[in-house]
Amino acid sequence: MKIFIDTANIEEIKQAQQLGLIDGVTTNPTLIAKEKRPAYEILEQICKIVSGPVSAEVISQTSLEMVKEARELAKIANNIVIKIPLIKEGLKAVQLLSKENIKTNVTLCFSPSQALLAAKAGATYVSPFIGRLDDISQEGMQIIKDIKKIYSNYQFKTEIIVASVRNPMHVVEAALIGADIATVPFSVIEQLIKHPLTDIGIQRFLEDYKKIPSQ
Ligand code: G3P
Repeated sequence: MKIFIDTANIEEIKQAQQLGLIDGVTTNPTLIAKEKRPAYEILEQICKIVSGPVSAEVISQTSLEMVKEARELAKIANNIVIKIPLIKEGLKAVQLLSKENIKTNVTLCFSPSQALLAAKAGATYVSPFIGRLDDISQEGMQIIKDIKKIYSNYQFKTEIIVASVRNPMHVVEAALIGADIATVPFSVIEQLIKHPLTDIGIQRFLEDYKKIPSQ
């Protein structure tokens, strides 16, 4: 499973990149706003650090405006992927952009029916939001299972990005289901690495090493 980092914070991206485990980056207007700098400047910088796909979201609401905005965003770098919301106008925009070979990530997906339409429209990626479904007492991970089944029934090439990931178990469950990608906040990447028994084990080995007589 590929792991993307879900952030627009340059320091987090650099740190994750140094781990050598990051296959791409996803951003959204909320994440960009946290950085308090112009969006294009941030996106340019991210694309210089990461060679994998970098998702940048449109804010337009009509298909023609979305396409116009997408063309501008796509000029930033070759690895920019355009995030388009899953609404009627968004689906029209995805079809137009796929004809121009501009890659798309259809976002704010909350149901298998929406994901089916994203794939039919020619989306490169679809982003079902797991955590936000969990927040309203719906089992988010169930839609990943359903989308995976639907896509495999018809050999859709659209890749599933498990998004709105809130904890390490979301990542493990995504991998068990066989999702293509999980996009993960930096804090969750750190949680994935950590285990208390690993830390206790290291401490014990270091203490025991001191007991070994020197030659
Ligand atoms: O990139 C979109 C997504 O991952 C949002 O996550 O935590 O705001 O629901 P969250």
